Amino acid sequence: MDDFPVKGMDAVVFAVGNAKQAAHYYSTAFGMRRVAYRGPENGSPDEAVHVLESGSARFVFRGPVKAGTELGRHIAEHGDGVVDLAIEVPDAEAAYKRAVAQGATGLEEPHVLEDDHGKVVVASIATYGETRHTLVERTNYSGPYLPGFEAADPLVEPPAKRFYQAIDHCVGNVERMDEWADYYHRVMGFTDMAEFVGADIATEYSALMSKVVADGTRKVKFPLNEPAEGKRKSQIDEYLEFYGGPGVQHIALATNDILASVDQMRAAGVEFLDSPDSYYEDPELRERIGVVRAPIEELKKRRILVDRDEDGYLLQIFTKPVQDRPTVFFELIERHGSLGFGKGNFKALFEAIEAEQERRGNL
Ligand SMILES: [Fe+2]
Repeated sequence: MDDFPVKGMDAVVFAVGNAKQAAHYYSTAFGMRRVAYRGPENGSPDEAVHVLESGSARFVFRGPVKAGTELGRHIAEHGDGVVDLAIEVPDAEAAYKRAVAQGATGLEEPHVLEDDHGKVVVASIATYGETRHTLVERTNYSGPYLPGFEAADPLVEPPAKRFYQAIDHCVGNVERMDEWADYYHRVMGFTDMAEFVGADIATEYSALMSKVVADGTRKVKFPLNEPAEGKRKSQIDEYLEFYGGPGVQHIALATNDILASVDQMRAAGVEFLDSPDSYYEDPELRERIGVVRAPIEELKKRRILVDRDEDGYLLQIFTKPVQDRPTVFFELIERHGSLGFGKGNFKALFEAIEAEQERRGNL
């Protein structure tokens, strides 16, 4: 019996210095469609909020419209980043009560928001750093996002075919992974999905440890990273320093045509991490991945990585950080049976990340 049932991710909410421009970037470069807006024109004097969708993936961009706001303070401290991994639940009050009874810090008690489209119940609990989980019960609501938001036109003509259709997983960088994994076990009844420790994710210079917690249906998956002892500064340490503490590292987006999506995003100016030619020429890798849906030359051309496990395989690629601070980035993932996270690619991937760290002078 699941006493913390979830329906899936509700939204990834970003705090950004300029929500209007962020909404434009995610429309043109990530192929998202703006669907809703709230700002000074309709009852939100302090901030502008643009809501964008691609399939079931919903991103919300909040930006301050005046000086001296708490949101502005957050952005000054952390830069653009994720403030809320909102989870859709069938009963927000029950979920909140269970979480708080198990030691979660309550940030917002359950309350009803209402407009002509119906009712939504929301409540919020704290997680790592200054990140929160808003629990959203929207069964009795038909509006474009939340009460108070108005439907809004797309900012540009959306692409004929969306680049991705869902949020696959959301990764947090923390100082103490075990503590936070335990938090999700206790507070949400999540269980461990996979574990990568020590040598699993180590390069010559830097290392990290990672654990993945997920709800019983595997709709909500939260990997948690912790820096591990290495010869030089870990990519997780770099994040913690530049973000100013724990926070969301990357959002993985599920696509069913990673080749086409990468081509279009690259053409629109999204920068992806480079994997070395040697990755594709490694006979061991070719042997291990076997036959996948596209010729390896096509993957190599786009720097798409492949991993295979007992359940199937996956194709994945990572963007560079999407803001000037070396913090939040994205992953595109196309799954063919595999429920993994690309463990076989970690070494190649981290060498590519370290090359970027080196260029920034942070290795
Ligand atoms: Fe990932």
